[in-house]
Amino acid sequence: MGTYAVTGSASGMGAASAARLREAGHRVVGVDLRDADVTADLGTADGRRHAADEILRLCDGVLDGVAAVAGVGPNLPDAAAVASINYFGPVALLDALRPALERDGGGRAVVIGSNSATTVPMIDDHLVGLLLAGDEEAARAHAAGAQRSLPAALAATSPSISAYATSKFALARWVRRTAVTPEWARRGITLNTIAPGAVVTPLMTGSTMSEEDLDPDAFPTPMPRGIFGRPADIAFWVAQFLSPEAGFTTGATLTVDGGTDAAMRPDAQ
Ligand code: NAI
Repeated sequence: MGTYAVTGSASGMGAASAARLREAGHRVVGVDLRDADVTADLGTADGRRHAADEILRLCDGVLDGVAAVAGVGPNLPDAAAVASINYFGPVALLDALRPALERDGGGRAVVIGSNSATTVPMIDDHLVGLLLAGDEEAARAHAAGAQRSLPAALAATSPSISAYATSKFALARWVRRTAVTPEWARRGITLNTIAPGAVVTPLMTGSTMSEEDLDPDAFPTPMPRGIFGRPADIAFWVAQFLSPEAGFTTGATLTVDGGTDAAMRPDAQ
């Protein structure tokens, strides 16, 4: 049985992923702001360092896989925090944990992106550049500035929509660029992205909406299957990407969204 680190383990997709791995008999080191084996704020450099140190201590420096699931949604009022949590959180943690994934000769890593990277027409190219350059300070300042010029109606409901979609876009690009470097690919470590659509979790429903308020046919983006996703729908794919058999898949993005992306971009490959 293996040892896996899962971020965002206290809620939603991360909790479902951790539960699925534990049910299969694996050891899971959960990381979150609360109710986790390692409590850490992945939105800060100190928090990421603490999380990496604690994971490495708890797993004796050897991991079979990492699922970087923790993240926030476009309704967070602070776009700079969205960039830090959703992009620099997984990237810095995976960079720090990569050597531990090498030790057993075939580690697995998967990050949770979003189908917003391909369906939200608000990707900020300048922010993509700053994120991929690793300039967190400049990325935060730019995201905060861009947020101030959002139209008022959008700012009221999804104040961080552009930073959110852009950070997930940049994360998937980082995965593609990183997965094929010798440090990952030739050491047997795979690295992939899952891009969920609307999944019923506290992030999606917030504190005011109940599940009964949700109608797939009245949702702002098309929901061809007529259902919303459940955390277990994502945990299923997390477990596949983390399995030892998944060694020939790397640098890929798997969209898991009930058909939203295909409906919005039928001719994209
Ligand atoms: P959730 O809110 O149920 O779970 C997210 C977890 O991440 C929480 O336990 C939270 O405490 C943790 N977290 C947030 N900020 C953190 C920080 N700074 N440091 C450490 N932990 C932190 O949300 P859900 O839906 O399970 O989200 C999982 C991932 O899926 C996120 O990356 C999110 O952006 C992404 N996503 C969610 C979608 C949805 O419809 N629910 C759609 C597409 C992507």
